[in-house]
Amino acid sequence: MQMLGAPNGYNRTSRKYSLTFFEAPRSRVTYYKSMTSSVAPLRADSISKTYRGVLGGKGIQALKGVSLELKPGEIFGLLGPNGAGKTTLVKVALDILSADSGQCWLFGLPAKNARTRLRVGYLPENHRFPPRLTGRGLLQLTGRLHGMADDQINRRADELLERVGMSRWAGTRITKYSKGMAQRVGIAQALIHDPDLVILDEPTDGIDPVGRAEVGEIIRELKSAGKTALLNSHALAEIEQICDRVAILHKGEVLRVGDVSEMTAIGLQYVLTGSFGVLTSDPPPEVAVALEKSDERLVVRVSSEDKLDQLTDWLRSRGASIRSLTQRKHTLEEVFMEMIDKGKGPG
Ligand SMILES: Nc1ncnc2c1ncn2[C@@H]1O[C@H](COP(=O)(O)OP(=O)(O)OP(=O)(O)O)[C@@H](O)[C@H]1O
Ligand SMILES: [Mg+2]
Repeated sequence: MQMLGAPNGYNRTSRKYSLTFFEAPRSRVTYYKSMTSSVAPLRADSISKTYRGVLGGKGIQALKGVSLELKPGEIFGLLGPNGAGKTTLVKVALDILSADSGQCWLFGLPAKNARTRLRVGYLPENHRFPPRLTGRGLLQLTGRLHGMADDQINRRADELLERVGMSRWAGTRITKYSKGMAQRVGIAQALIHDPDLVILDEPTDGIDPVGRAEVGEIIRELKSAGKTALLNSHALAEIEQICDRVAILHKGEVLRVGDVSEMTAIGLQYVLTGSFGVLTSDPPPEVAVALEKSDERLVVRVSSEDKLDQLTDWLRSRGASIRSLTQRKHTLEEVFMEMIDKGKGPG
Protein backbone atom coordinates (compact mmCIF):
# COMPACT_ATOMS: atom_id res chain seq x y z
CA MET A 1 0.00 0.00 0.00
CA GLN A 2 1.18 3.49 -0.79
CA MET A 3 1.86 5.29 2.45
CA LEU A 4 -0.36 8.23 3.10
CA GLY A 5 1.49 11.22 4.36
CA ALA A 6 4.55 9.18 5.16
CA PRO A 7 7.31 11.53 6.21
CA ASN A 8 10.62 11.29 4.44
CA GLY A 9 12.68 8.44 5.73
CA TYR A 10 9.96 6.81 7.79
CA ASN A 11 11.15 3.49 6.35
CA ARG A 12 14.42 3.86 8.14
CA THR A 13 12.76 3.37 11.43
CA SER A 14 9.32 1.90 11.23
CA ARG A 15 6.74 0.37 8.94
CA LYS A 16 4.09 0.75 11.60
CA TYR A 17 2.93 4.04 10.12
CA SER A 18 0.34 2.55 7.83
CA LEU A 19 -0.52 -0.38 10.01
CA THR A 20 -1.30 1.43 13.18
CA PHE A 21 -2.36 4.94 12.29
CA PHE A 22 -4.19 4.66 9.04
CA GLU A 23 -5.60 1.20 9.35
CA ALA A 24 -7.50 1.98 12.49
CA PRO A 25 -10.93 0.32 12.74
CA ARG A 26 -13.58 1.89 10.53
CA SER A 27 -16.00 2.48 13.32
CA ARG A 28 -17.90 5.71 13.59
CA VAL A 29 -15.65 8.52 14.67
CA THR A 30 -18.45 10.18 16.58
CA TYR A 31 -18.79 7.15 18.81
CA TYR A 32 -15.44 7.91 20.39
CA LYS A 33 -16.02 11.57 20.99
CA SER A 34 -16.98 12.69 24.39
CA MET A 35 -18.88 15.93 24.50
CA THR A 36 -16.62 17.79 26.86
CA SER A 37 -13.70 16.48 28.76
CA SER A 38 -11.10 17.70 31.15
CA VAL A 39 -8.75 14.88 30.26
CA ALA A 40 -5.47 15.95 28.66
CA PRO A 41 -5.75 15.47 24.88
CA LEU A 42 -2.10 14.45 24.88
CA ARG A 43 0.22 13.49 27.69
CA ALA A 44 3.79 12.32 27.36
CA ASP A 45 5.36 10.69 30.40
CA SER A 46 9.17 10.48 30.45
CA ILE A 47 9.58 9.57 26.78
CA SER A 48 13.03 8.43 25.70
CA LYS A 49 13.90 7.42 22.19
CA THR A 50 17.21 6.51 20.57
CA TYR A 51 17.53 5.88 16.84
CA ARG A 52 19.81 2.87 16.66
CA GLY A 53 22.22 1.95 13.90
CA VAL A 54 23.28 5.52 13.16
CA LEU A 55 26.40 7.48 14.12
CA GLY A 56 28.63 4.42 14.00
CA GLY A 57 26.27 2.21 15.97
CA LYS A 58 26.12 4.58 18.92
CA GLY A 59 22.73 5.79 17.85
CA ILE A 60 21.11 9.18 18.24
CA GLN A 61 19.33 9.89 21.47
CA ALA A 62 16.48 11.98 20.11
CA LEU A 63 14.37 12.19 23.29
CA LYS A 64 15.69 12.04 26.85
CA GLY A 65 12.80 11.63 29.24
CA VAL A 66 10.39 14.18 27.79
CA SER A 67 7.20 14.87 29.74
CA LEU A 68 4.46 17.20 28.49
CA GLU A 69 0.76 17.64 28.95
CA LEU A 70 -1.64 19.50 26.68
CA LYS A 71 -4.71 21.14 28.19
CA PRO A 72 -8.06 20.69 26.46
CA GLY A 73 -8.83 23.57 24.10
CA GLU A 74 -5.38 25.11 24.02
CA ILE A 75 -3.02 25.82 21.15
CA PHE A 76 0.34 24.46 22.15
CA GLY A 77 3.60 25.15 20.32
CA LEU A 78 6.53 22.78 20.36
CA LEU A 79 9.63 24.81 19.61
CA GLY A 80 13.22 23.82 19.20
CA PRO A 81 16.11 23.99 16.78
CA ASN A 82 16.60 21.46 14.01
CA GLY A 83 17.06 18.01 15.46
CA ALA A 84 15.63 18.94 18.88
CA GLY A 85 13.28 15.95 18.81
CA LYS A 86 9.94 17.64 18.00
CA THR A 87 8.96 15.35 15.14
CA THR A 88 10.15 12.30 17.03
CA LEU A 89 7.92 13.21 19.96
CA VAL A 90 4.91 13.64 17.69
CA LYS A 91 5.57 10.29 16.02
CA VAL A 92 5.79 8.58 19.38
CA ALA A 93 2.53 10.24 20.44
CA LEU A 94 0.87 8.85 17.32
CA ASP A 95 2.47 5.42 17.77
CA ILE A 96 4.25 5.76 14.44
CA LEU A 97 7.42 5.16 16.42
CA SER A 98 7.80 3.19 19.64
CA ALA A 99 9.52 4.86 22.56
CA ASP A 100 12.33 3.04 24.36
CA SER A 101 10.77 4.03 27.64
CA GLY A 102 7.92 6.15 28.88
CA GLN A 103 4.36 6.31 27.66
CA CYS A 104 2.09 8.62 25.68
CA TRP A 105 -1.61 9.05 26.31
CA LEU A 106 -4.27 10.48 24.02
CA PHE A 107 -7.45 11.58 25.78
CA GLY A 108 -6.49 9.48 28.78
CA LEU A 109 -5.96 6.27 26.82
CA PRO A 110 -2.64 4.74 25.74
CA ALA A 111 -1.53 6.23 22.41
CA LYS A 112 -1.34 2.69 21.04
CA ASN A 113 -5.13 2.54 21.15
CA ALA A 114 -6.25 2.84 17.52
CA ARG A 115 -9.72 4.12 18.48
CA THR A 116 -8.26 7.07 20.32
CA ARG A 117 -6.20 8.05 17.32
CA LEU A 118 -9.41 8.51 15.34
CA ARG A 119 -9.84 11.69 17.35
CA VAL A 120 -6.52 13.04 16.12
CA GLY A 121 -5.77 14.84 12.86
CA TYR A 122 -2.17 14.87 11.68
CA LEU A 123 -0.16 16.82 9.18
CA PRO A 124 3.25 15.13 8.94
CA GLU A 125 6.44 17.05 8.32
CA ASN A 126 7.86 16.66 4.79
CA HIS A 127 4.86 14.62 3.77
CA ARG A 128 4.74 12.66 0.57
CA PHE A 129 1.13 12.05 -0.24
CA PRO A 130 0.34 9.35 -2.79
CA PRO A 131 1.28 11.13 -6.03
CA ARG A 132 -1.57 9.80 -8.12
CA LEU A 133 -4.17 11.32 -5.86
CA THR A 134 -5.81 14.65 -6.47
CA GLY A 135 -6.35 17.06 -3.61
CA ARG A 136 -9.94 15.90 -3.29
CA GLY A 137 -8.83 12.27 -3.56
CA LEU A 138 -6.47 12.75 -0.64
CA LEU A 139 -9.25 14.13 1.53
CA GLN A 140 -11.53 11.28 0.49
CA LEU A 141 -8.90 8.71 1.36
CA THR A 142 -8.20 10.22 4.77
CA GLY A 143 -11.93 10.50 5.44
CA ARG A 144 -12.51 6.85 4.58
CA LEU A 145 -9.57 5.75 6.71
CA HIS A 146 -11.26 7.53 9.58
CA GLY A 147 -14.52 5.72 9.03
CA MET A 148 -16.52 8.54 7.49
CA ALA A 149 -19.41 8.00 5.07
CA ASP A 150 -18.88 9.18 1.48
CA ASP A 151 -21.54 11.92 1.48
CA GLN A 152 -20.17 13.26 4.76
CA ILE A 153 -16.64 13.22 3.30
CA ASN A 154 -17.68 15.06 0.16
CA ARG A 155 -19.50 17.76 2.06
CA ARG A 156 -16.62 18.29 4.42
CA ALA A 157 -14.01 18.11 1.62
CA ASP A 158 -15.81 20.91 -0.28
CA GLU A 159 -15.81 23.08 2.83
CA LEU A 160 -12.19 22.41 3.68
CA LEU A 161 -10.85 22.81 0.15
CA GLU A 162 -12.61 26.15 0.02
CA ARG A 163 -11.24 27.05 3.45
CA VAL A 164 -7.63 26.42 2.41
CA GLY A 165 -8.10 28.11 -0.96
CA MET A 166 -7.70 24.92 -2.99
CA SER A 167 -11.19 24.46 -4.51
CA ARG A 168 -9.95 25.36 -7.99
CA TRP A 169 -7.22 22.74 -7.75
CA ALA A 170 -9.26 20.02 -6.10
CA GLY A 171 -9.25 17.83 -9.22
CA THR A 172 -5.55 18.30 -9.97
CA ARG A 173 -3.00 15.69 -9.01
CA ILE A 174 -0.91 16.46 -5.95
CA THR A 175 2.30 16.03 -8.00
CA LYS A 176 1.33 19.18 -9.92
CA TYR A 177 1.00 21.22 -6.76
CA SER A 178 3.56 23.69 -5.50
CA LYS A 179 4.93 23.04 -2.02
CA GLY A 180 2.55 25.52 -0.46
CA MET A 181 -0.44 24.05 -2.30
CA ALA A 182 0.43 20.54 -1.12
CA GLN A 183 0.75 21.92 2.39
CA ARG A 184 -2.71 23.49 2.16
CA VAL A 185 -4.38 20.22 1.16
CA GLY A 186 -2.27 18.53 3.82
CA ILE A 187 -3.86 20.76 6.44
CA ALA A 188 -7.30 20.07 4.97
CA GLN A 189 -6.79 16.28 5.16
CA ALA A 190 -5.75 16.62 8.81
CA LEU A 191 -9.14 18.21 9.53
CA ILE A 192 -11.42 16.07 7.39
CA HIS A 193 -12.80 13.97 10.26
CA ASP A 194 -13.30 16.96 12.57
CA PRO A 195 -10.67 15.76 15.04
CA ASP A 196 -10.54 16.91 18.65
CA LEU A 197 -6.76 17.13 18.62
CA VAL A 198 -4.88 18.41 15.58
CA ILE A 199 -1.15 17.86 15.33
CA LEU A 200 0.48 19.97 12.66
CA ASP A 201 4.21 19.44 12.09
CA GLU A 202 5.54 22.61 10.43
CA PRO A 203 2.11 23.68 9.10
CA THR A 204 3.25 26.86 7.35
CA ASP A 205 6.30 25.31 5.71
CA GLY A 206 6.36 26.58 2.12
CA ILE A 207 3.19 28.61 2.46
CA ASP A 208 3.16 32.25 1.30
CA PRO A 209 2.47 35.10 3.77
CA VAL A 210 -1.24 35.34 2.91
CA GLY A 211 -1.58 31.59 3.31
CA ARG A 212 0.26 31.73 6.64
CA ALA A 213 -2.23 34.22 7.96
CA GLU A 214 -5.04 31.96 6.73
CA VAL A 215 -3.51 28.96 8.50
CA GLY A 216 -3.29 31.04 11.68
CA GLU A 217 -6.98 31.84 11.30
CA ILE A 218 -7.90 28.19 10.77
CA ILE A 219 -6.03 27.26 13.94
CA ARG A 220 -7.81 29.97 15.90
CA GLU A 221 -11.13 28.69 14.57
CA LEU A 222 -10.23 25.22 15.83
CA LYS A 223 -9.66 26.69 19.26
CA SER A 224 -12.99 28.53 19.14
CA ALA A 225 -14.63 25.21 18.32
CA GLY A 226 -13.08 23.74 21.49
CA LYS A 227 -10.39 21.72 19.72
CA THR A 228 -6.81 21.35 20.86
CA ALA A 229 -3.86 21.94 18.54
CA LEU A 230 -0.21 21.00 18.79
CA LEU A 231 2.06 22.85 16.39
CA ASN A 232 5.70 22.17 15.63
CA SER A 233 7.17 25.25 14.11
CA HIS A 234 10.20 27.44 13.59
CA ALA A 235 8.03 30.44 12.77
CA LEU A 236 8.35 32.01 16.20
CA ALA A 237 6.50 35.23 15.45
CA GLU A 238 3.49 33.21 14.30
CA ILE A 239 3.72 30.87 17.25
CA GLU A 240 3.81 33.86 19.58
CA GLN A 241 0.60 35.18 18.08
CA ILE A 242 -1.28 31.89 17.91
CA CYS A 243 -0.19 29.73 20.84
CA ASP A 244 -1.42 29.81 24.41
CA ARG A 245 1.53 27.82 25.73
CA VAL A 246 4.80 26.59 24.33
CA ALA A 247 7.52 24.13 25.24
CA ILE A 248 11.11 24.69 24.21
CA LEU A 249 12.78 21.42 23.36
CA HIS A 250 16.53 21.17 22.89
CA LYS A 251 18.63 18.08 22.33
CA GLY A 252 15.80 15.82 23.37
CA GLU A 253 15.00 17.65 26.60
CA VAL A 254 12.32 20.13 27.59
CA LEU A 255 14.08 23.32 28.64
CA ARG A 256 10.97 25.28 29.47
CA VAL A 257 7.17 25.04 29.29
CA GLY A 258 4.83 27.92 29.94
CA ASP A 259 2.29 30.50 28.87
CA VAL A 260 3.54 32.61 26.01
CA SER A 261 2.52 35.78 27.85
CA GLU A 262 4.42 34.76 31.01
CA MET A 263 7.45 33.66 29.04
CA THR A 264 7.72 36.92 27.17
CA ALA A 265 6.96 39.26 30.09
CA ILE A 266 9.91 41.24 31.46
CA GLY A 267 9.18 41.80 35.10
CA LEU A 268 7.68 45.16 35.94
CA GLN A 269 8.85 47.18 32.99
CA TYR A 270 6.42 49.38 31.12
CA VAL A 271 6.52 51.34 27.89
CA LEU A 272 4.66 54.65 27.74
CA THR A 273 4.05 56.58 24.56
CA GLY A 274 2.96 60.20 24.44
CA SER A 275 4.65 63.61 24.71
CA PHE A 276 7.41 63.68 27.26
CA GLY A 277 9.52 66.52 25.82
CA VAL A 278 8.28 68.85 28.58
CA LEU A 279 9.92 66.79 31.33
CA THR A 280 12.94 68.43 32.89
CA SER A 281 13.79 65.53 35.20
CA ASP A 282 13.29 61.78 35.56
CA PRO A 283 10.46 60.50 37.76
CA PRO A 284 11.43 60.20 41.46
CA PRO A 285 13.13 56.83 42.05
CA GLU A 286 10.54 55.81 44.67
CA VAL A 287 7.91 56.03 41.89
CA ALA A 288 9.74 54.63 38.87
CA VAL A 289 13.19 54.20 37.36
CA ALA A 290 13.44 55.59 33.84
CA LEU A 291 15.30 53.10 31.62
CA GLU A 292 14.87 54.92 28.30
CA LYS A 293 13.52 58.36 27.55
CA SER A 294 12.74 60.27 24.39
CA ASP A 295 10.17 62.94 23.50
CA GLU A 296 7.63 60.26 22.48
CA ARG A 297 8.60 57.19 24.49
CA LEU A 298 9.40 56.44 28.07
CA VAL A 299 10.46 53.04 29.38
CA VAL A 300 10.31 52.57 33.15
CA ARG A 301 10.78 49.93 35.82
CA VAL A 302 8.48 50.07 38.82
CA SER A 303 8.67 48.15 42.08
CA SER A 304 4.97 47.23 41.92
CA GLU A 305 1.98 47.81 39.64
CA ASP A 306 0.52 50.20 42.22
CA LYS A 307 3.25 52.68 41.33
CA LEU A 308 1.83 53.12 37.83
CA ASP A 309 -0.92 55.44 39.05
CA GLN A 310 1.64 57.55 40.88
CA LEU A 311 3.77 57.63 37.77
CA THR A 312 0.98 58.76 35.46
CA ASP A 313 -0.10 61.40 38.01
CA TRP A 314 3.46 62.66 38.24
CA LEU A 315 3.82 62.80 34.44
CA ARG A 316 0.55 64.69 33.96
CA SER A 317 1.36 67.11 36.77
CA ARG A 318 4.44 68.08 34.76
CA GLY A 319 2.54 68.67 31.55
CA ALA A 320 3.33 65.35 29.82
CA SER A 321 0.53 63.58 27.99
CA ILE A 322 0.21 59.80 27.82
CA ARG A 323 -1.14 57.98 24.78
CA SER A 324 -0.50 54.37 25.79
CA LEU A 325 0.94 52.30 28.59
CA THR A 326 1.90 48.66 27.98
CA GLN A 327 3.98 46.09 29.76
CA ARG A 328 7.32 45.61 28.08
CA LYS A 329 7.74 42.19 26.50
CA HIS A 330 10.48 40.10 25.05
CA THR A 331 9.67 38.52 21.73
CA LEU A 332 9.35 34.76 21.82
CA GLU A 333 12.34 34.69 19.51
CA GLU A 334 14.45 36.51 22.12
CA VAL A 335 13.36 34.04 24.80
CA PHE A 336 14.10 31.16 22.47
CA MET A 337 17.53 32.44 21.48
CA GLU A 338 18.43 32.99 25.09
CA MET A 339 17.48 29.42 25.97
CA ILE A 340 19.26 27.84 23.05
CA ASP A 341 22.98 28.18 22.73
CA LYS A 342 23.23 29.57 19.19
CA GLY A 343 26.84 28.52 18.72
CA LYS A 344 26.13 24.84 18.97
CA GLY A 345 24.08 24.38 15.80
CA PRO A 346 21.36 21.76 15.35
CA GLY A 347 20.28 19.77 18.35
N1 LIG B 1 14.58 8.13 11.09
C1 LIG B 1 15.65 8.54 11.75
N2 LIG B 1 16.77 7.79 11.83
C2 LIG B 1 17.84 8.22 12.52
N3 LIG B 1 17.89 9.39 13.18
C3 LIG B 1 16.80 10.18 13.13
C4 LIG B 1 15.64 9.80 12.41
N4 LIG B 1 14.71 10.77 12.55
C5 LIG B 1 15.29 11.72 13.31
N5 LIG B 1 16.53 11.36 13.66
C6 LIG B 1 17.46 12.13 14.52
O1 LIG B 1 16.81 12.40 15.76
C7 LIG B 1 17.05 13.74 16.19
C8 LIG B 1 15.72 14.44 16.37
O2 LIG B 1 15.13 14.58 15.09
P1 LIG B 1 13.67 15.19 14.87
O3 LIG B 1 13.31 15.00 13.44
O4 LIG B 1 12.77 14.64 15.89
O5 LIG B 1 13.95 16.73 15.20
P2 LIG B 1 13.05 18.01 14.96
O6 LIG B 1 13.09 18.78 16.24
O7 LIG B 1 11.74 17.64 14.41
O8 LIG B 1 13.91 18.82 13.88
P3 LIG B 1 13.45 19.78 12.67
O9 LIG B 1 13.17 21.12 13.30
O10 LIG B 1 14.64 19.83 11.79
O11 LIG B 1 12.24 19.19 12.02
C9 LIG B 1 17.96 14.36 15.15
O12 LIG B 1 19.29 14.26 15.61
C10 LIG B 1 17.78 13.49 13.91
O13 LIG B 1 18.96 13.42 13.16
MG1 LIG C 1 10.74 18.05 12.69
